[in-house]
Amino acid sequence: MKYRILGRTGLRVSAVGLGTMVHAGHFGPMDDRESLSAIETAMDLGVNFIDTSDDLGVNFIDTSDAYGAGYSETLLGQALRGKRDKIILATKGGNVMVGPDRGKRNFAPDYIARVMDESLKRLQTDYVDLYQLHNPTVDVIERGDVWEVLERAKKAGKIRHYGVSINTIEEGIAAVNGGRSDTVQLEYNLLAQEPAEKIFPLAQAANVGIIARVPLRRGILTGKLTAADDGRFQGEDVRARSFKGEPFRRELEKAEQLRFLLDRNLQTFAQAAIAFCLAHPAVSTTIPGARNAQQMRENAAGADVTIRPEHLQRIDELWRSSFSS
Ligand SMILES: NC(=O)c1ccc[n+]([C@@H]2O[C@H](COP(=O)([O-])OP(=O)(O)OC[C@H]3O[C@@H](n4cnc5c(N)ncnc54)[C@H](OP(=O)(O)O)[C@@H]3O)[C@@H](O)[C@H]2O)c1
Repeated sequence: MKYRILGRTGLRVSAVGLGTMVHAGHFGPMDDRESLSAIETAMDLGVNFIDTSDDLGVNFIDTSDAYGAGYSETLLGQALRGKRDKIILATKGGNVMVGPDRGKRNFAPDYIARVMDESLKRLQTDYVDLYQLHNPTVDVIERGDVWEVLERAKKAGKIRHYGVSINTIEEGIAAVNGGRSDTVQLEYNLLAQEPAEKIFPLAQAANVGIIARVPLRRGILTGKLTAADDGRFQGEDVRARSFKGEPFRRELEKAEQLRFLLDRNLQTFAQAAIAFCLAHPAVSTTIPGARNAQQMRENAAGADVTIRPEHLQRIDELWRSSFSS
């Protein structure tokens, strides 16, 4: 595994990490044994290599109290027992998942202080390496009060660093310019490249660490989905809303146009998608969700492949000519 420094946190994180939203059933029903095998595989990768005693495998794991209303954190807590120090652990808070306010966001200082403690309990740890505000608005980012509670938690040793996970370009810019957030987690992939132009240069100048999420565009960039999957995902599955009709067809078409990336050195679409994220020097780590051990192994190997410069150029042309619209 290759490692990069997560901006001014100074944390040494694996270039490929693990996102654990899938383990809470947001991509259809999950078997805990499969989830645990994905997490354990992540931690074990690297131990077989001689002469790389500092190879910790996939050491960056991202979760949130929102994933299955704490379910993902609870599972991770079990998996990390006795291995906590091998992992750079990141979680998030601010999305209300239970009670009458379910579905709303809450960044009130007392709320964040409370849910942070609950996260630590579920994760069976007394600290996380990174605590992220989960989808705060520009207003929340620019207001001072929630940052104070994070700073207090840092002084108390409950969190080592803090940052945000954002949805829009404006939120990303506000977070970097505001100066309080050490990291920004955002969607960045072959089909969502706006951050490279609008956020990454600012983040690099301020040494803010970038965590690239949804690198596989929820599966579209694995090459395994076809028009026959239109409308297949239902109910609580995060793909239910977007994987249907014209928008889904267009995304599949764009993915198809990227097949030129596959060659003798780059044999799977998922690895090409991961290598694309890592090709940008602003990106410290990317966190594909892995449902099982096999996906985890394939994704981790994405750190070891590179996209040829002429292919990066072609991706850029595609983005500017047709993908961005
Ligand atoms: N607002 C936020 O903060 C936010 C929002 C979204 C995501 N995230 C974070 O980002 C992480 C990643 O995002 P994501 O899980 O939504 O999207 P993603 O990583 O682009 O896609 C993950 C899905 O792709 C499939 N997959 C993964 N590896 C594969 C492989 N090697 N071959 C074939 N299929 C593979 C799996 O689903 P199937 O096996 O079912 O196909 C998996 O659930 C999340 O876990 C979470 O930590 C944060």
